[in-house]
Amino acid sequence: MARSPSLPSSPSSPGFWRSPLRGPWFTSLLGVVLLAGITVLFVTGLLSYASYNPDLSPVNDKTPDKGILGFYLFSWPTGPHWLYRLNQGVHVTLGITLVPVLLAKLWSVVPRLFQLPPARSLAHALERISLLLLVGGALFEFVTGVLNIQLDYLFPGSFYPLHFYGAWVFFAAFLAHAVLKTPAALRNLRQLREARSGDAPPEPEPSLVAPDPAEPTVSRRGAVWLVGGGSLLLFGTSVGQNFDGPLRRTALLAPHGGAEPGSGPNGFQINKTAASRGIAAAETSEEAWRLVVTGPSRTVRLSRAELLRMPLHSAALPIACVEGWSTSDQWWRGVRLRDLAELVGHPGDAPPDVLVESLQRRGAFRRAALRANQVRDPRSLLALDVNGEPLTPDHGYPARIIVPAAPGVLNTKWVARMTFGEL
Ligand code: HEM
Repeated sequence: MARSPSLPSSPSSPGFWRSPLRGPWFTSLLGVVLLAGITVLFVTGLLSYASYNPDLSPVNDKTPDKGILGFYLFSWPTGPHWLYRLNQGVHVTLGITLVPVLLAKLWSVVPRLFQLPPARSLAHALERISLLLLVGGALFEFVTGVLNIQLDYLFPGSFYPLHFYGAWVFFAAFLAHAVLKTPAALRNLRQLREARSGDAPPEPEPSLVAPDPAEPTVSRRGAVWLVGGGSLLLFGTSVGQNFDGPLRRTALLAPHGGAEPGSGPNGFQINKTAASRGIAAAETSEEAWRLVVTGPSRTVRLSRAELLRMPLHSAALPIACVEGWSTSDQWWRGVRLRDLAELVGHPGDAPPDVLVESLQRRGAFRRAALRANQVRDPRSLLALDVNGEPLTPDHGYPARIIVPAAPGVLNTKWVARMTFGEL
């Protein structure tokens, strides 16, 4: 509908915002969905951070001064073996699914963001600052998260500290907002239900309701369907990246959706190819490559043929990436990490932490550390084969780490050196 010339043109005037859909019920409904969704996002986000064992700084985590924000950290367990796959799948898929809900919520409260004067009292000023942190924090976390899973590393600096500190600022503001607004949100929704059943008239808080509403272009139900449908569409075009086969092809929005890379035993998802990390075939050949393993009593240099003559064990484990994609269990075969620890002088049933270094010259996680509990698990392997075939170069030939429940980046490929007990 055309705006009449007599209507206010400044967004800070109440009459400027004319959608008849704005009102406490819509904001409250979206708020209740966000209350549940963002709480799950925060918890899975913290667990995702814990899964790196960031206490093994500065190898696994370069976040400066995390101080008391690292208070909850613990040795990440190795079971159930799909733990990280589930956690990260939920974190990323839920984050994508909540985007329309967040945008609708911001749309529903946008008149408040332009309110003048910006602060009427000290208490009001503090409340406005917390709203700035809430809205800014929400946008920052969603934008950095989505850019990361789309492999667009545009940030000034590393993603981890930005998303980590951003999450704490956002969640602190979110918690304050939720404590203040949840009672009103539940009251508004109850009143709406009672008004529908004819028990009591609704009592809308006037501020979000347009004083001079325009003609509706969509019904309330239609608006809820629009937001819910948008979320469903995003869910349906991203969740498939957590599965193999035809389901992965439904993940149209995910960079690791689409077909599996190749077919056969090694035909499952890859994040970093050998070429992209500067791994030359000459340095991984049988003649050139040696694994250097160091412990308190000695250092050994092992060829792939020598590793293949050691006791070999198998484990069915997935690859699960921080970006939210994962594979189903693959059958890996190789030498147990604890047997390698024993080889260089540590007791196999009480091994220490280990530092693993890759041949990789480019990109993050060229060095990664694993905790003693990860080394001790009999399913943790220096894998040489997968699904009955030698690893391909893109899967880490000549040898790679595979540890149950660990994030993909800690499963170092093209391993060159392992140092036990010096972290
Ligand atoms: C990403 C999370 C969220 C953002 C960015 C957000 C943002 C906002 C903003 C900017 C306002 C206007 C505040 C004012 O000027 O008074 C608001 C109002 C409100 N929010 Fe949220 N919010 C979020 C989550 C929630 C949650 C979890 C709830 C509770 C279940 C909630 C319930 C409400 C209610 C009831 C109002 C007042 C509506 C009215 O005045 O009629 N919000 N929200």
